[in-house]
Amino acid sequence: MTAILFEKVRLNESIELDNRIIMAPLTRCMADDNLVPTDAMATYYARRAGAGLIISEAIIIRPDAQGYPNTPGLFSAAQVEGWKKVTQAVHDNGGKIFAQLWHVGRVAHPHFFGGEVLAPSAIKVEGSVPRMRDLTYVTPKAVTLDDITTLVADYAKAAKNAREAGFDGVEIHGANGYLIDQFLHYTSNERQDEYGQTPENMARFALEVVGAVTEAIGNDRVALRLSPGAYFNLAGDPRDRAVFDYLIRQLNQIPLAYLHAGIFDDEMQFDYLGGRVSDYMRNTYEGLLVGVGGYTATSASHAIENNRFDLVAIGRPFIANPDYVEKVKHGKPVTAYSEDMLATLV
Ligand SMILES: Cc1cc2nc3c(=O)[nH]c(=O)nc-3n(C[C@H](O)[C@H](O)[C@H](O)COP(=O)(O)O)c2cc1C
Repeated sequence: MTAILFEKVRLNESIELDNRIIMAPLTRCMADDNLVPTDAMATYYARRAGAGLIISEAIIIRPDAQGYPNTPGLFSAAQVEGWKKVTQAVHDNGGKIFAQLWHVGRVAHPHFFGGEVLAPSAIKVEGSVPRMRDLTYVTPKAVTLDDITTLVADYAKAAKNAREAGFDGVEIHGANGYLIDQFLHYTSNERQDEYGQTPENMARFALEVVGAVTEAIGNDRVALRLSPGAYFNLAGDPRDRAVFDYLIRQLNQIPLAYLHAGIFDDEMQFDYLGGRVSDYMRNTYEGLLVGVGGYTATSASHAIENNRFDLVAIGRPFIANPDYVEKVKHGKPVTAYSEDMLATLV
């Protein structure tokens, strides 16, 4: 019933995956205080190497990218050394791993890095850092054109660091209301210059990051995650549809490893997308698509059989079941996820 998940799948000339099950990126906030991955993180990822591909938890590209405690980085030499232990452990167990490259934009908090919070426009997000209620979000500074140039270069630098650290590739985190996504939605982007107002302008930052990262490490090793349906950290606007139509049409010209939906529950319907995020992306994007959001092995198999997407990313079940792939393969029951599992790294 789930046999289709266990077919090999070729992303491109450089990368073939053993199966269609991807471990979704899952922030765990377990790096040390220098944002260096620990030995426990190497063990955690190595135990999940049965996935066709692991996408790492989101990794910040520079200090002002941080919005949560103890999220790992990929900008210092010590961080690169720490990640070498993780990638080595995954490779030793026969797995593959991409680094998810992250800047949270206006969801950053100065508490973590002591500087300005950057975003497309000076529009703050309501609320506070999860589980740190006294850290309410601040009004960000709208980035200058020089800031944008530096940010794009820093994504490329982090991608090079990822390859040096032994990652098989990178997934650019363009989803979930963080920096890149903030450029793509009207409620967070009110810029009057060449990065705002029109679909072409609003997609410019995302395409510049994709361009710089593919130039740095080669397009076979670069993927992108997008949230055409706004559901987290920002509100959607029906006009966003045209931005994603334009962006995805441009991406069709660039052979990336895959495009990944960014959504928690793929049953969610978005009027302005005409339904589910995955269906909208399937109808617009011509390359390999990773679906995600509340799937079981059975429902994912059906979706792939029905050509709704090509690979599935599994998130919470992988926290609850390090041996998720083995369990599914042998038809064993999977342990249910619960939030208290986030307290420990097993
Ligand atoms: C604890 C937790 C941490 C997450 N961290 C990230 C992250 O770092 N990057 C990201 O793109 N998505 C992140 N997500 C979203 C997941 O990648 C995934 O889209 C979501 O959990 C839905 O898939 P699932 O139903 O299989 O869990 C996170 C989700 C959870 C529950």
